[in-house]
This record gives sequence, C-alpha cells and structure tokens, in this order.
Amino acid sequence: MADKEAIVGKDRSPFFPGKPVTPEFFIGREEQIKLLERAIRQAKSGSPQYLFITGERGIGKSSLVSLAGQLAEREHGFISAQCQLGGADSVGEVCRRMYQALVSQLPDKSLFDKVRGVFDKYVERIDLFGIGVEFKKDAESRESLVENFLPLLFRVGQVVRDAGKNGVFLAADDLNGIATNTQFAHFLKSMVDQIAVGPQRNFPWVFSLVGIPERMDDLKSKQPSIDRIFQPIELSIMREKDAVAFFEQSFRSVDHTWDTNALQLMAQLAGGHPVMWHEVGDAVFWEDQDGHIDESDVLERGLNVACENVGRKYLARPLYDELRSKVYQNILKHIGHQKSPVMKRSDVLRELPSAQAKNFDNFIQKMRNLGVIRNIPGTRGEYEFVNLLYYFYITLRTARIVESSK
Ligand SMILES: Nc1ncnc2c1ncn2[C@@H]1O[C@H](COP(=O)(O)OP(=O)(O)O)[C@@H](O)[C@H]1O
Ligand SMILES: [Mg+2]
Repeated sequence: MADKEAIVGKDRSPFFPGKPVTPEFFIGREEQIKLLERAIRQAKSGSPQYLFITGERGIGKSSLVSLAGQLAEREHGFISAQCQLGGADSVGEVCRRMYQALVSQLPDKSLFDKVRGVFDKYVERIDLFGIGVEFKKDAESRESLVENFLPLLFRVGQVVRDAGKNGVFLAADDLNGIATNTQFAHFLKSMVDQIAVGPQRNFPWVFSLVGIPERMDDLKSKQPSIDRIFQPIELSIMREKDAVAFFEQSFRSVDHTWDTNALQLMAQLAGGHPVMWHEVGDAVFWEDQDGHIDESDVLERGLNVACENVGRKYLARPLYDELRSKVYQNILKHIGHQKSPVMKRSDVLRELPSAQAKNFDNFIQKMRNLGVIRNIPGTRGEYEFVNLLYYFYITLRTARIVESSK
C-alpha cells in the first residue's frame, strides 16, 4: 500500500464520505439553490423566510444548507450560522445551540465582540472565538434565555445591521428527537407568529430547519400549522450526469486522469446518492495505482472495497449477514437489476425459479423486520427501501456478485 501511494503521490483523497461537501466540490441541486436564493433575497427585502430542508439521510441536506449559508454571506452580505439539534432535548437547549452557533460563526472579531455582548448576562464562560460558549446553568437564566429568545434575536439583528450586514441566515440541522417535543413545536409557531405581527415584522432573516421527512411529520403531528409556515425544500436522488461531473471534478483536483467509461461505470454503481459517490470515489481512488482511472480500477478493485465499506458502515451487523447468505443471492441479483429502489413481488417471482418463491417471502419478511424495506402504502406486494443507502449497497453488492461469477 505504501508503495502504491508513493508512486502517484496519493497524499489526500478528494473524497470524504460523511462530511458535508465544500462549495468548490458541490455539484447540482440548481433548483433547490434557486429556491434558497429567492428566500435570501426576500428576507433581505424585509420578508422573513422559514424553510425546511428535507430528504433521506446522506442525500446532501447539510451540504446544501452550508452552501446556502455561504451564498447568503458572500453574495448577499448576511451573517450565517448552522447549529446541530441532534441530541437537544429541550427548547432551552435548542436556544442555546442557536445562540452559540450565531456567536461562534461570525466572520470577524469586532462583530463577534458585539454579538457576544448581547448575551453577556447569560454567559458563564466563553473562549476566544466563542466555540466554547457556556451558558449559565441556573434555572432562572435558562428560563429567561428562552423567554427572551426574540428580543435577543432582534438585538443580534440590530448589531449585525449596524455593522453593515443585510440579514441573518440561521439553519438548525439534524432535527431529531426534539421534533416530537410539543413545546418545541409551539415555540416555533409562536416565534413565527410573534415576528409576523410585531414591530419586527420585516426582520431580515432566513430560518431553516433541516431533517429527514419523518421529522417534519413529527412536528406536524404536534403543531399542524408548521406545515404551512415552513416551506419545504426537498432533496431527492441526483442524476447520473451529476455523478460523472462530480467524479471528473474530484479526480481533476488531484491531477488524476481517467477513461470516460470508467467514470460512467462509477456513476452507474453509485447512482444518484451523493454519499455513495464519495464511497465509490474514495475506494477507487485508493485502489488505483497509476493516477489514471480505468475500468479495471473500478471493477476489479474499487468496487469490492466500496461494497465492504458501505456494508460495514451503513448496515447493521445482522443485515450484513443476511446479505452474505447464498440463499438470497438470486433475489439480490434481481433487485440489483432493477432501475429503481422498488420491488414488486410478482415481478421478482416471474424471474425466480419457482423453488425459490418461499425464499423470497422469507427475505421480504426479514428485511421488513430489520427495517430495511417497507410496504408501499396502498399496495400489496410492493416494497420500497426505507433508506436509499440500503438499496445502493445491494446494487453495489449485486454488481460484485455478477462480476465474480463471470
Ligand atoms: N451536491 C453535492 N455535491 C457533492 N457531494 C455532495 C453533495 N451533497 C452531498 N454530498 C456528499 O454526500 C455526503 C452526504 O451529504 P450530507 O450533506 O452530509 O447529507 P445529509 O445531511 O443529507 O445526511 C457527504 O459526503 C457530502 O460531501
Ligand atoms: Mg446532515
């Protein structure tokens, strides 16, 4: 391995599965970017905007929201901040995380000092760039931080505008357990209402929640008008040509060359799911030995590694074992040949030797129990993958089975 890396100077892979992509590697999503820019413009001209960026895990929500934040900053003179709500279990915790993000992600020191000043009363301790803001823990300051959320937000807005900025872009990423918290749903609703009818009705901000579609449903069940307030921006899988563009751009950035068919093959394998682009890209990058990506780098080496990584990282152990079992391989092959992550019992049975029909039903049962697939509502015998990652793993895995049996 060491030798390989020395030959073409592979110090650093341009692929980074799991990390949000930086703007220079960002591909596609033109439509969603247009909606985000429109929201930023509207906010700038005095109409507060509320968004909900949604899609499956790994589809690119965090990447999109951080690109939008940068756009807001660079092109529209906003300040932008992104906080993680994963693990937050109270409205107080949500407020603290939002403020901390606002304080710590400011572009310059003088603005940082001023915004920090807004929260002085509540802060126990803060390190140089506000990354470690510790809010006071006594119940009174905690409560008052929540109660004063809006006045504090407006003061931040004032400070920001005094410094010549046009608005605030704030994203709350990784919305999770808190989405089932009734108080949180009410907090959101009343925040929006109070802004709308108060003297700050032109508050120039974009506030975006980010989470998988189920979290939006959770919120809706606690507070039905959430649906109407937050404009959804939906991310679905991307196009194969986006994948090709992504591979070209990434390999170019590390001075690699390629055969067109090799990149097309990678795009086919990875499909439209960006997290899979990174998995496939990273595997092929490290398996290649000469700085030129060809078909054999993909089929003979990269594919195996990508499959192993995806299986190990994204699938729970029990499922991993099921998929390795010989009994299910014909079924997997069938699924792998499909063009979409949907399975119809009747289609599969048509292609399977009749002796295997029972295996198929067992397979479906197991996959359902493991939470990998689910019934498509309103159908009989039609199934979809709960998470697209699973589907892509199976596609990758099947391509590998087919390759190795040639
Ligand atoms: N538009 C894109 N262009 C290139 N890579 C992307 C894009 N969107 C997402 N990715 C990559 O896909 C992976 C998952 O993206 P992420 O934004 O973390 O998804 P999510 O927040 O929906 O789980 C990351 O490795 C990220 O770099
Ligand atoms: Mg994310």
